[in-house]
Amino acid sequence: DWTPNAFVQETVDDLKEKLGNDKVVLGLSGGVDSSVAAMLLHKAIGKNLYCIFVNNGLLRKNEFTDVLEQYKGMGLNVKGVDASARFLDALAGKSDPEDKRKAIGRVFIEVFDDEAHRIEDVKWLAQGTIYPDVIESVSATGGPSATIKSHHNVGGLPDFMKLKIVEPLKALFKDEVRRVGASMDMDKTLLGRHPFPGPGLAIRILGDITAEKVRILQEVDAVFINGLRDAGLYDKVWQAGAILLPVNSVGVMGDERTYEKCVALRAVESTDGMTADWVNLPYEFLQKTSNDIINKVKGVNRVVYDISSKPPATIEWE
Ligand code: XMP
Repeated sequence: DWTPNAFVQETVDDLKEKLGNDKVVLGLSGGVDSSVAAMLLHKAIGKNLYCIFVNNGLLRKNEFTDVLEQYKGMGLNVKGVDASARFLDALAGKSDPEDKRKAIGRVFIEVFDDEAHRIEDVKWLAQGTIYPDVIESVSATGGPSATIKSHHNVGGLPDFMKLKIVEPLKALFKDEVRRVGASMDMDKTLLGRHPFPGPGLAIRILGDITAEKVRILQEVDAVFINGLRDAGLYDKVWQAGAILLPVNSVGVMGDERTYEKCVALRAVESTDGMTADWVNLPYEFLQKTSNDIINKVKGVNRVVYDISSKPPATIEWE
């Protein structure tokens, strides 16, 4: 029978044997998978694990600093790299979702590669790939659903980085990853985090990206997500976020006519992201959240709630 404790023991032993005194580089994302993978490797090889956490400027509000501190607190050997400007430059003028994904994937690889080259004699690249990622990337090479969206979690290694790959979570499902993390006493908030896409807010800002749009969406998202936490709803939802629409609509404030942005809120229930249902959030919660967003976030005068399920609507709007 599979137990998280046995998995940790076995995996740490295997990693020790496989890696010996080799150096390993790993990209942390703030998500559950890369964090648990890092913790397992940390147990096995300690300071020989070099973690890199890249700020692409498209993370949630305060996420880069908060999560970086948390990683340091866990004893991980982690370097934070703020490459926000580089990502925003690469995105300038791009509106097509796949163009945006490709630009982000390319810059990520450049930044990561620069950093990996600074680690003398690094031999391995560790990844937090889990079993469903493996399946999806297999179907992405052939199946008809393949090219719907290009995910960059799997196989993002350029040829010129001749590193061997180590993927300690490759056989696990998400709930098993969480249980493995819990058995290593990792923080519950970290393990309970909603999934967040690699391209981050770039695919929740429909159309082209500017620093100002990122700032607006970070504020809106923070009101929504903190609201879910305060109302005890966060853990009842599989994933939630806000989308900045490329639409201005008319409003009134005092005697003034406004013409400002509209945001959509999305919250879904799911087990693996392949299918999803919109969550029936309480009206009182939606009412308060809408008021809070419109009162606190300058530039937004309208909030709508997405009541579409997947299929056919995907979780993300791009
Ligand atoms: P969709 O929108 O396809 O999303 O229903 C399913 C799950 O995948 C996430 N997602 C991504 N994750 N890079 C990622 O790392 C991507 O380009 C990407 N696109 C979607 C989405 O957040 C949801 O959890």
